[in-house]
Amino acid sequence: MIGDGSKGTVLGIMGGELSGRVAVVTGGAAGLGRAMVDRFAGEGAKVVIADLDQERVAAASDGQVVFRRVDVADSGQVRDLVEFAIAEFGRLDVFVNNAGIGGPMHASFLDDDLADFQRIVQVDLYGVMVGTQHAARWMARHGGGSIVNVASIAGVQAGCSQMVYRAVKAGVIQFSKSAAIDLGAHQVRVNCIAPGGIRTDILSSTTAHHRDGDSMAEKLREVMKEIRPLDREGAAADIAEAALYLAGDRSRYVTGTVLPVDGGMSAGYPGKPPAELGQGAGQDSGADGAVDK
Ligand SMILES: NC(=O)c1ccc[n+]([C@@H]2O[C@H](COP(=O)([O-])OP(=O)(O)OC[C@H]3O[C@@H](n4cnc5c(N)ncnc54)[C@H](O)[C@@H]3O)[C@@H](O)[C@H]2O)c1
Repeated sequence: MIGDGSKGTVLGIMGGELSGRVAVVTGGAAGLGRAMVDRFAGEGAKVVIADLDQERVAAASDGQVVFRRVDVADSGQVRDLVEFAIAEFGRLDVFVNNAGIGGPMHASFLDDDLADFQRIVQVDLYGVMVGTQHAARWMARHGGGSIVNVASIAGVQAGCSQMVYRAVKAGVIQFSKSAAIDLGAHQVRVNCIAPGGIRTDILSSTTAHHRDGDSMAEKLREVMKEIRPLDREGAAADIAEAALYLAGDRSRYVTGTVLPVDGGMSAGYPGKPPAELGQGAGQDSGADGAVDK
């Protein structure tokens, strides 16, 4: 970082990885976004929380972290958000398009509701597009920046249920890669994080319409446990760590990527071979297939 032409300075390093930087985190009032806000601020950044939900962040505004009420599905509000960040802190280095909704989860696509489709597309895809454009327009004129778009492993893997959400998150990934290609000449990097199975309110919000919503959410967590290689549920802090990497100079030569942070869930089919095929973990079968004695 020192003396390589990147934005980092010796003072910056001493003061934190994002010292002197300004970041906007949409959906920063709760869940993954809130963990990013705390991590970025802990590394010295000034941060704007952009969210619909003001109640949860009343205590957060302290001069280093400020709140702006924004609906990311409204392009005018997102344009004003970028202007607000610059008026408040003088610059914009990092923009995280994190705000998102899952929409109600039904057993089949046949039970889904058209009105939900529209809102999911508006918040989760259109919101990312306008956030990227408004942030990139300013960054392109001021030496560059980092845009981090929060997709999902649902955008990487097909599956039953939440088909519109899956399609939209796949759209976020393809949009982000294309934006990275388009904006590279302006030193604007665009990357995606694809979280999976992180404990936040989003899962219960997708099952809230169900008469037994809480236990449905717990059952879904059990399903994810079965297909997750790493033996623990993810935490919002795990995503914040990935966001910090993509926001700062450690990823300065990284753009157009998708980083799954999902305990390995999207790596592949989790099935194990039948027990008869092997002697169990850790036993060396030897070069000729005979078990060592
Ligand atoms: N939690 C997971 O396991 C998981 C997995 C894959 C993807 N994601 C994605 O991560 C992102 C964050 O999800 P989360 O789990 O933290 O959810 P969450 O529900 O805990 O938090 C979402 C935040 O976004 C805000 N928000 C919602 N709609 C908004 C809008 N129109 N404008 C502004 N703010 C709005 C909410 O008020 C809330 O503060 C979403 O894009 C989600 O799709 C989460």
